[in-house]
Amino acid sequence: MNHSLVYPYAVFFHVLGTMGLVAFAGMEWATLLRLRRDPEPSRVTAALSLLGIGQKLISIGVPVLLLSGLYLVHAAWPFTPWVAVGLVSMALLGFLGGGFTGRHVKALMASEGKALAAHLPALWTAFVLRASILTATIFVMCAKPGLMGSVATLGIAVVGGMLIARGTGQPAAASADASPSRPSAP
Ligand code: HEM
Repeated sequence: MNHSLVYPYAVFFHVLGTMGLVAFAGMEWATLLRLRRDPEPSRVTAALSLLGIGQKLISIGVPVLLLSGLYLVHAAWPFTPWVAVGLVSMALLGFLGGGFTGRHVKALMASEGKALAAHLPALWTAFVLRASILTATIFVMCAKPGLMGSVATLGIAVVGGMLIARGTGQPAAASADASPSRPSAP
């Protein structure tokens, strides 16, 4: 195979796969913000069903990203620390997304949207953590640092993501009840 001919197309598909993951993260962010502001059960299930359709971006994006990445390594790169971080990140994203978030979404759907307060903090934490890992992975793929830089970037993403997510996933209704009402006009 003529690698110099195929390589640019593989980079294109690799970036296209990345776009799928980023686009889904945007959808998930918008959905979680909506759930936080509007915890009405029927609208919770409607929003999650819509997000489920967007899941196709992941089903297509992940194999495209992985296969093109493996080809890029095979064609031109040794097994570098940033490539290892790419593989570890994909495993973490899969575990947090398919495993953790998937389980909470299923349970929330089974409760017909009524158990939002029990699941939203976990959904929010997993989302922020995944967004942080995804951003860090894009950074290591572009900057291609050495072992220390690659591991430190992933470590900062995990710890930073957990710190950012802390206490930010509660539905708004509870705090709205407690907030003072606006004074009426004279
Ligand atoms: C969530 C996971 C991943 C994301 C978001 C991601 C994203 C990216 C992006 C945006 C680039 C373009 C940077 C550039 O052209 O300089 C890139 C390059 C690259 N990626 Fe990934 N990647 C991921 C996983 C992987 C994996 C698992 C592999 C290998 C098994 C891999 C192998 C490569 C290689 C070899 C390049 C260098 C292309 C070049 O500079 O010529 N990536 N990646």
